[in-house]
This record gives sequence, structure tokens and C-alpha cells, in this order.
Amino acid sequence: MSPRVDVQTLRGRKRRDGAEPIVMVTAYDHPGASIASAAGVDLILVGDSVANNVLGYEDTLSVTVDDMVHHIAAVARARPECLIVGDMPWMSYHLGSEDAVFNAARLIRAGAQCVKLEGGRKRVPAIEAIVNAEIPVMGHLGLTPQSVHAMGGMRVQGRRVDAAGALIADAKAVEAAGCFAVVVEGVPDALGAAVTAALEIPTIGIGAGADCDGQVLVFHDVLGLGPARAPKFVRRYANLAEDAVKALAAFAADVRSGAFPTAAESYEASEQLRAALAPRSERA
Ligand code: KIV
Repeated sequence: MSPRVDVQTLRGRKRRDGAEPIVMVTAYDHPGASIASAAGVDLILVGDSVANNVLGYEDTLSVTVDDMVHHIAAVARARPECLIVGDMPWMSYHLGSEDAVFNAARLIRAGAQCVKLEGGRKRVPAIEAIVNAEIPVMGHLGLTPQSVHAMGGMRVQGRRVDAAGALIADAKAVEAAGCFAVVVEGVPDALGAAVTAALEIPTIGIGAGADCDGQVLVFHDVLGLGPARAPKFVRRYANLAEDAVKALAAFAADVRSGAFPTAAESYEASEQLRAALAPRSERA
């Protein structure tokens, strides 16, 4: 199936021009992508947050290009009607433009239609090189999880006037380098609004207030499959982990009591087979 949106139409999707807000959600596998597509979201981000949400890592730094290829391919096999954004993991675009293009191409060959990478002015050469290879790039600014150690933890960014100004300069730089959209994460709402106003390309916020051109959340957070304590910007629309525990506990109880499986849940043997399999003492 082809996506409902493409990068060219997304590039101009600004709310100030009356456009509908962009909806993006992460997904990391075939069922997740099918669910996101059926729900009608615009973009699926196969995020490096697969690290925390699926692979059991503390942060995103352990995820490799091979991991991302594996998960992007699973998402692509669901043929979702959403644009698939492949997240470039840490160290896949930091060592030089050639390396960045090579790794971006691996994500595209796995099934992504564009890639996302974190960082501002420092990342301009990598963004330009990837865009020059005909691969659309989404930027990611603010609380960038791959910089967890450099930031001194997962902290809201751009609280000070100078830091806010630097973030706006970064946003303009990634736009000029060719990004078609930019994720803005973990910044005060007024800064989310200011970045959105400063750019011609859309902003997609996560913990960046209500004025961005779109919003993104993590699949596991929206559905209540993630940790009990989520960041304050998460709105939980279901509690699937609780439902799953109840369902598996009921299955375990039925197995232990003999209530599962019933005859209706079994394959019936023919009389002939039954007789042949019966213990000798029971045979006629
Ligand atoms: O990997 C991810 O989930 C992300 C979102 C937080 C934007 O980058």
C-alpha cells in the first residue's frame, strides 16, 4: 500500500496556513505498524527508542544500524499506509558524510522512505550529504536522547534565553541544510512555538507544547505498554500491559485447572485412530 502522505506534501504542512496537525507514532514491528496504519496516523517512526521499549536497554546508545534495519524491515513488511521514518542510531552519522550516507541508504533499503537524525548545526554536513543522495531527512532538536551524557541526563532543553536562541539557530540550520521536517523534543512550550514560527518546514513536537505543527508519541506510552511512570508529556490512551497480565494470568489458571483446552479447542481423532492409539487393555 502506498503512504497517505509524502515528504513533499509534508514539507509545507504548517498549521499557520490552516493545515491539519501531523500525527506520528513510533512502531518497531509488523503488528505495531499494522495497528498504526489502521489508526490512520501519518508517519511511523521506527525510532531508536526500540532500545528502551523493546530491547531492554537503559538508553538508545546501544542500538546499531543492524538493529534498525531488522526493525524497519519488519515494519515495512506490514505495508502500512504511513510514511516510514528510519531513525539513524548513535554513531551512524557522526564519523563523516560518507559513512552517514552509507548508513542512511541501509535504512532506506530496509524499507524506510526517509531518515531522522539528531542534532543542529554540527550535523549540517551529514544532513546535506544524505539529502544530496536523494534521501529525505527529518531533523531532531531539543532533548536529543543520543546526547544523554553530554546533556548530563534526560533534561528539558532550552530553558535559558541563550540556549533557546541557540536551538532556534539550530532549527534554521537544519532547515537550510534540507530537512523536510524537524522533531522538537523536551523544550518549554513557548520555545516549541517560537521554533515553529521561525521555520517554513513543519515541527513535530514531543514534550514541546501545543503549538507545533504535529505531535509524536511512543507507541508503548500511548497504549500503556511502557513503564508505569512515563514523562509528563505522555497521554496514555489504553492500559494494554494491565490487560495483558490479566489475560495471561487467566490462561495460566485455565491450564492449571484443566479448563483449557476443551474438545472444541482440539483436533478430533477418527474412531479408527482412537482405537489404534488406545492402551492394549482397553482394546475390544
Ligand atoms: O526514537 C524515538 O522514539 C524518537 C522520538 C522520541 C521522537 O526519536
